[in-house]
Amino acid sequence: MADKQIGVAAIGCGSMARMILRRLLPKSDAIKLLAIADPDERSIKATRNEFGADIKAHTDYKELLADPAIDWVLISSWNCQHKEHAVASFEAGKHVFCQKPLATNLDDCLAMRAAWQSSKRQFVIGYTLRFSPHYRKIKELLTAGAIGRIVSMEFNETVGFNHGGYIMGDWRRLRKNAGTHLLEKCSHDIDLACWMVESLPQRVASFGGVNFFVPENEERIKAIGRDPRPDSRYSGREAYLAWQGLVAENPFTSDKDIFDNQVTIIEFNNAARATFHTNINAAIPERRMYLLGTEGALRADVLNGHIETQRIGFDSQLEIISSGTDNSHGGGDDVLATEMADAMLYGRTPAVGINEGLISATTCFGIDEAADTRNVVEMQPYWEKIGKR
Ligand SMILES: NC(=O)c1ccc[n+]([C@@H]2O[C@H](COP(=O)([O-])OP(=O)(O)OC[C@H]3O[C@@H](n4cnc5c(N)ncnc54)[C@H](O)[C@@H]3O)[C@@H](O)[C@H]2O)c1
Repeated sequence: MADKQIGVAAIGCGSMARMILRRLLPKSDAIKLLAIADPDERSIKATRNEFGADIKAHTDYKELLADPAIDWVLISSWNCQHKEHAVASFEAGKHVFCQKPLATNLDDCLAMRAAWQSSKRQFVIGYTLRFSPHYRKIKELLTAGAIGRIVSMEFNETVGFNHGGYIMGDWRRLRKNAGTHLLEKCSHDIDLACWMVESLPQRVASFGGVNFFVPENEERIKAIGRDPRPDSRYSGREAYLAWQGLVAENPFTSDKDIFDNQVTIIEFNNAARATFHTNINAAIPERRMYLLGTEGALRADVLNGHIETQRIGFDSQLEIISSGTDNSHGGGDDVLATEMADAMLYGRTPAVGINEGLISATTCFGIDEAADTRNVVEMQPYWEKIGKR
């Protein structure tokens, strides 16, 4: 056990920041939330209500960076602010946890890596699914040779309609705040695919658009109506408006510039090929992977915690494993908090850092270039820019 107190500060203390703090702080009495910075009084109030009225609150994050009692800074601000907050934190000598994605453009990502390298401090990125027992089990099966070498794969993230309405009404509906939908939401999935395939994407193609969350479909709110279920957490709320973020525009008429559906093809350097599909108006939400290998296949969905494998062969049986998780983060939030506490208390190297953040964000930048230009994009120039090849 560490003998000294670990002072923690949060820059951005909205819903994700509080979700992490809720799991992290109980891990050790030595980990103390000392200060928060957020321009929104509602987030400050909610955080102090939950974690203590004595927590120092700042509207300017630079004030908390000046405090030598702060060892770790947890960044959960808007994606476009990650670079400014992370670079300043490293320059102030702090260890950093930053929510995914790393940043909204390649220059910002590289500035974060440079600041991290000069700081010699720890960095953890919030790729929650990397901490999930579900995905760790899949990785373990692949490493043990359950399906041989991956030849091709499908994966998806189809998001339930209320969650979709939230995305299209929230700050993340605009690329200038969050980057694209693929970067903001599905960079998790892109990270997982690169991890599973163990190779960098070589070329990508993608098509996407806004085809559902348009003003003509606003009547869908009324057509579906209010949720009548007495025990539902959405009870009495209207369809598509049931999730409430800090910014809550009408998702159909808002000024969004992100896609609500997108399909992507990826060819990896090791010749594995993948398709990825996202849509944010799903009646049947999925976060599914279907991997075809030289010796078998694996199919899994984190939303029900099922992993199925079968070997190639006349006598083989379908094996069904339950990963014991059944939510969109697959139990990753709590493991992330445990491993964050280990990094804070014992200096252990966390499972995911700058490298994973950079590879996933860079892949998303390439895919979005492909979607925006309707070209096949060769990823080599991107990898050269980040020094990966
Ligand atoms: N790891 C995951 O699975 C996961 C899930 C959801 C969101 N996220 C990430 O977490 C981050 C926050 O998302 P959220 O869902 O909590 O959003 P949120 O809107 O609930 O919270 C964002 C907070 O940032 C604050 N903020 C805005 N400008 C700021 C500034 N200049 N300085 C400090 N704070 C500022 C807002 O006032 C708000 O309180 C995003 O980067 C998002 O991508 C990660």
